[in-house]
Amino acid sequence: MAPTSTPAWLSLIALLALAGCRAKSALTSQQLEGQHLYNVRCAHCHELNDLALKKVPPNLHHVFSSPTLPSGAPATDLNVERTILAGRGMMPPFAGSFNQEQMDALLSYLHAGIR
Ligand code: HEC
Repeated sequence: MAPTSTPAWLSLIALLALAGCRAKSALTSQQLEGQHLYNVRCAHCHELNDLALKKVPPNLHHVFSSPTLPSGAPATDLNVERTILAGRGMMPPFAGSFNQEQMDALLSYLHAGIR
């Protein structure tokens, strides 16, 4: 005999899946701080290239999902932190712009894959 209404267990699974998606897209407070710093200090170049740089700033979404950074250097926290502090090519150095807590927040946001 075929069931006429959705079985309760199916609704439960759908609910759990929904909750899972929610949990995934939610950023921690540290990542939210990083998102803010990224939006204020990095996005105008890395999202908009508003200075029309000839070397288009690379897309940083999922930058840690690849084993290497756009430059070919290993995609490690240390290398990204060094790039931020020292700059690279047309990217200005940010030494002195962020304290360690802000740097950690920025890295944690980049690890979240940017959204
Ligand atoms: C003035 C524009 C500009 C700003 C502002 C800027 N960047 Fe960049 N960024 C660039 C350009 C251009 C490159 C490519 C450099 C190259 O390889 O010559 C780059 C490269 C990078 C890379 C890749 C490094 C590699 O090894 O491939 C990372 C990571 C990065 N930027 C992070 C950031 C973060 C985080 C911020 C904000 C704190 C930021 N950038 C702000 C222009 C900018």
